[in-house]
Amino acid sequence: MKSIAVIDSGSGGLTVANKLFDRLPGERIIYVGDHGNCPYGNKTEKEIREAVYGVIRFLGRFELKLLVVACNTATALMLDDIRKMLDFPVIGVIEPGAEMAAGATRNGKVGVIATRRTAESHMYQKMITDKLPGVSVFEQACPKLVGFLESDENREAEIASELELNLAPLRAADVDTLVMGCTHYPLAENQILKSWGAGVSLIDPARGTAERAYEALKEKGELSGGTPEEHLFYTTGDAVEFSEKVKKWTPILRPVVRPVTD
Ligand code: SIN
Repeated sequence: MKSIAVIDSGSGGLTVANKLFDRLPGERIIYVGDHGNCPYGNKTEKEIREAVYGVIRFLGRFELKLLVVACNTATALMLDDIRKMLDFPVIGVIEPGAEMAAGATRNGKVGVIATRRTAESHMYQKMITDKLPGVSVFEQACPKLVGFLESDENREAEIASELELNLAPLRAADVDTLVMGCTHYPLAENQILKSWGAGVSLIDPARGTAERAYEALKEKGELSGGTPEEHLFYTTGDAVEFSEKVKKWTPILRPVVRPVTD
């Protein structure tokens, strides 16, 4: 059975995997978290490319029919290059998120919170403007958030002050729609909503991404029925720690978690 691969810099992509489990219940998912190189968002483009190419080389041993690049940073920097390397569909998270944001805004002002690299790439601005010309897009980097969310310690207070600091300019810009432009951020959805207060459309690009994955497989006649025996979770970091995160952040109670090997 051919599988869907999901790649991310760490555990944040589990938020995308969850939406794939819901939308494509018949598919087997092979998830690779590059915890050994996480976070990507503060690294140089060269470092990110090398890390992602390493993950794609590892995936070469599996029979795949689709790749979801769950990491916004990798999507922003190298989605087209990844597509050129593979002979099956490759789906990123930015375009689906941009489409959702363009459909949600009523006042034409959209905020995006993201890693430094994603914000600097202005890929969200470009894609949202392509879909809704005339819209104003405000991209705000939250450089510390991924580290706090991946941490095993309770970092709630730091998360709250990082959000307070970085949401302030977007609130001042009067955005009515806020894109969580990093796959880790939905893990902090409640804190984001609490910090913002009422009255914002919060966009999780994972939902649109899962829909795109469904459409791509349907178009190719490659949708699987039934129930997959298991999903596989790989990490370039500590498999025991990752296993705890999979149990905490997905509905899978006894995940198969393995280290990435050469
Ligand atoms: C990161 O690795 O910095 C975050 C992943 C993302 O950009 O979605």
